[in-house]
Amino acid sequence: MGVLSGKEIVLGVTGGIAAYKACEIVRELRTEGANVHVILTASGAQFITPLTLQTLSKNPVVMDLWNLISESEIGHISLAQRAHLLLIAPATGNIIGKIRSGIADDMLSTVVMATTAPVVIAPSMNTQMYESAAVRENIDVLRSRGFRFVEPDEGELACGTVGPGRLAPVGKIVEMARIVLAEKILQGKKVVVSAGPTVESIDPVRFLSNRASGKMGFSLARVALRFGADVTLVTGPTALENPHFMKTVRVRTAEEMHKAVERESPDADAVVMCAAVADFRAAKVAPAKIKKNEGGWKLDLSPTVDILEELGRNKGRRVLVGFAAETGDIAQNAVAKMRKKNLDAIVANDVSRTDIGFESDDNEVRIFFSDGEVRELPLATKEGIAVGVWLALHGKLFAR
Ligand code: C5P
Repeated sequence: MGVLSGKEIVLGVTGGIAAYKACEIVRELRTEGANVHVILTASGAQFITPLTLQTLSKNPVVMDLWNLISESEIGHISLAQRAHLLLIAPATGNIIGKIRSGIADDMLSTVVMATTAPVVIAPSMNTQMYESAAVRENIDVLRSRGFRFVEPDEGELACGTVGPGRLAPVGKIVEMARIVLAEKILQGKKVVVSAGPTVESIDPVRFLSNRASGKMGFSLARVALRFGADVTLVTGPTALENPHFMKTVRVRTAEEMHKAVERESPDADAVVMCAAVADFRAAKVAPAKIKKNEGGWKLDLSPTVDILEELGRNKGRRVLVGFAAETGDIAQNAVAKMRKKNLDAIVANDVSRTDIGFESDDNEVRIFFSDGEVRELPLATKEGIAVGVWLALHGKLFAR
């Protein structure tokens, strides 16, 4: 069950061309189990109809502060009180100005004033408006009052201008909702997560790599951020986009990953090595493409540095967690690796199964702790597994 499940979210939609994207936001929030109440401003209704938002949200769309029926059925105070989160997307310069100034002259601005729930604002407007002194100052003041913003993207806007002002991607806005609503069990912790494969060149066109997709490591990084951690993700080449709101370091080889993890982890509270780091690389990288020949080809390999083992030698107060991809004797192999690398825990999965592990969206793992305890996390999405891993690490390792 995701963090949005069962949450009451009030979505304010104001008058900008991006109002049509509110439909997608409603759908995403509902898909994850949230109950969404839309407040549509009068100018928002110039861009999108209440019927559309009502159909998607499956709740009456509230527009008018002075409507006796909607006020008796779902009044502004009741909306303000029931909300776990108030999200305004798209937010115009006008609504931002009203909130900053304490104006409550319509349903949305009144509910913002009346709520004690967190408020997330995703602005969208013409570049000159967004960069105007008034809007900049209003956003700064609202930030200092605890309002959260999802910055607009840069690009070509509907008005033809190129610059910042385009509503942030729906996925980024929904991720902010998850971040705001998740429990903060990792608040104040700095964590480094590695993900993906590494790629070791043989010549300018060939390389050695493995089947890691990066999905498990990316999920661990995203979930740690939602739980309140300061997260750095170090990843080998993957097809995945950088997760929102965190520092992502992209590397290619085991050596580059080693340097990046060493650089990012001295002050970390936890390092979780989920990456499938190459154990060997070509002893010599050929400067030109190696020609094919009749007699076959023997490739000389040299071992790479074991990053976790290095960290384990100089562990300090850091919590170190490894991943073990095994095809047999899982418990025995995983525990042996944990001991050899001086880890606090190792997360083992069976990569001989086709329904979980490499490339799959799902996983099933066992976590072995250095004190001998074993926790099983049954089949779930990789994001669900990531939640289980952090809860287990929190309970066992951070609470001490
Ligand atoms: O020994 P094995 O490679 O199976 O151990 C897996 C664990 O060690 C993973 O957490 C992986 O990220 C880490 N590892 C590493 N550096 C290597 C190889 C593996 O940190 N060169």
